[in-house]
Amino acid sequence: MSDVLLRAEKIGKVFGGLKALHDVSLTIPRNCIYGLIGPNGAGKTTLFNVITGLYKADGGTLELNGKSLIGCKPHTIVRCGVARTFQNIRLFGHMTAQENVMVARHTHLKAGVFGAIFRPPAVRREEAACRAEALRLLQYVGIGSQANRVARELSYGDQRRLEIARALATEPQLLALDEPAAGMNPTERETLKNLLLQIRNDGTTLLLIEHDVKLVLGICDQLSVLNFGQCIAQGTPEQVRRDPAVISAYLGSSAA
Ligand SMILES: Nc1ncnc2c1ncn2[C@@H]1O[C@H](COP(=O)(O)OP(=O)(O)OP(=O)(O)O)[C@@H](O)[C@H]1O
Ligand SMILES: [Mg+2]
Repeated sequence: MSDVLLRAEKIGKVFGGLKALHDVSLTIPRNCIYGLIGPNGAGKTTLFNVITGLYKADGGTLELNGKSLIGCKPHTIVRCGVARTFQNIRLFGHMTAQENVMVARHTHLKAGVFGAIFRPPAVRREEAACRAEALRLLQYVGIGSQANRVARELSYGDQRRLEIARALATEPQLLALDEPAAGMNPTERETLKNLLLQIRNDGTTLLLIEHDVKLVLGICDQLSVLNFGQCIAQGTPEQVRRDPAVISAYLGSSAA
């Protein structure tokens, strides 16, 4: 198996007259935490939307495990092994934390309409296993005690962790997180950092958009920096931190 998990080459995306992405290329190796940073409006979320099939790229190639994702629908891309969380949390607010995760497990369930209506023993066993797996994932992200609370009542930080549990429920090879630390306090951020390292150590590659520079430079193995839709730097945190173009566009001299 190749060391490369995801390869994007010359990805373009235009909104009206705005080039949100202009020939953006990146290669994500397996088993790493790959950072995507840059100022507001740089195109980071747009790139996530292209990778996860919500937006169609206007040009370029995109491959996961050497297989093209261009033209694939979002649910197909999930089945190929890419899961994500959203910058603006998208949970089912009226459902419990556990139910939110169970919904995402549907990609792994066999029961059809007949089974859902008549609920024979095999379907009930599958449902029980799904419930147990959802609870395991909630415990894994550190919110097992919140399993029966409705999502909209959880703290902001816990909602973000619930989104991660829900994404993990699809058993992704690549987990793309759009600002997972946003709205978290310093203690929650430290816990999140350990969780992200744990996820990587357990074999899932991470693609991370994050404005918390200390967090992102502290845990990423490699990064790409976007500015006005273009990739202005790539490399290790050390290389990126010292890059004059990155300092001028995003980090400022204090992070150097
Ligand atoms: N659906 C859309 N229609 C029109 N313009 C869009 C759309 N989505 C994004 N844009 C524009 O594309 C540019 C890149 O936006 P994007 O959300 O990708 O930035 P970002 O790097 O994620 O920024 P932030 O750090 O603020 O989240 C912005 O100018 C934005 O206004
Ligand atoms: Mg964004």
